[in-house]
Amino acid sequence: MSLSFVSQQCLRQSAVMGVAAVGGIRALAGGVRHLASVASTEGVPKQEQKRMKKFEIYRWNPDTPEKKPEMQTYEIDLNKTGPMVLDALIRIKNEIDPTLTFRRSCREGICGSCAMNIEGGNTLACLCRISDADKVTRIYPLPHTYVVKDLVPDMTQFYKQYKSIKPYLQRKTPSPDGREFRQSPEERKKLDGLYECILCACCSTSCPSYWWNSQEYLGPAILLQSYRWIADSRDEFKAERKQAFENEMSLYRCHTIMNCTRTCPKGLNPGLAIAQIKKEMALSS
Ligand code: SF4
Ligand code: SF4
Ligand code: FES
Repeated sequence: MSLSFVSQQCLRQSAVMGVAAVGGIRALAGGVRHLASVASTEGVPKQEQKRMKKFEIYRWNPDTPEKKPEMQTYEIDLNKTGPMVLDALIRIKNEIDPTLTFRRSCREGICGSCAMNIEGGNTLACLCRISDADKVTRIYPLPHTYVVKDLVPDMTQFYKQYKSIKPYLQRKTPSPDGREFRQSPEERKKLDGLYECILCACCSTSCPSYWWNSQEYLGPAILLQSYRWIADSRDEFKAERKQAFENEMSLYRCHTIMNCTRTCPKGLNPGLAIAQIKKEMALSS
């Protein structure tokens, strides 16, 4: 499979700093496609007035690898579009350009598949409100990912790393009464802020350490998931889980920059989860 790498310096900066800079790639922008033209609104009933807005969207097609990625501009009437960026993307795909490619499923912040870089920040398109009509919204795939097509990132390495932490309950002893392994309300509470992670990868792909070391550093999403099992009172492989981090790369590439926590669309704190793992490892050494 042919893949494009989202690596423009401007994209890196925009992901970190929220700066909507696109530099040279803008010069490559394709033609504007109009769904409708802006007309005088005088005398037109409010519900019939148009509210046109431009979206500039990253395009790359693996079937034409010799063609460089480019930004393509689309214009749609917000008065005919739902309130979220995913609504706009679906409308563009359905009514203007069926070749535009992106992932989505649940439409309500549960599946994590619509993660992308919108106006300089990583977030879920289905939870991201469309900004003012007079502002151009620029949309890229998650930064520093290989691109399968348009807004679809290749998640192979991310899922490989997820598999490596054995994200399931591990026991050495059977349940005393042959029933399920139970927890007290206090033990269960320790999983709050961890179990809600939907593995969207917004945090990992906003982390500079992960950008440069994603082959070895696990990144905030996978480390938060790992801590979810370390913190679970029923798991009996905590020592082994922590032992796997006794090297320079898997965990200790985190430098507490906290981009991860700032960007999480579910309001979680992967930076804190990483700090908890480090603390537990320091206390047990
Ligand atoms: S706190 Fe750690 S994991 Fe989060 S962005 Fe910073 S370096 Fe990456
Ligand atoms: S911690 Fe937040 S940003 Fe990171 S993968 Fe989980 S839900 Fe997504
Ligand atoms: S479509 Fe499922 S999280 Fe956005």
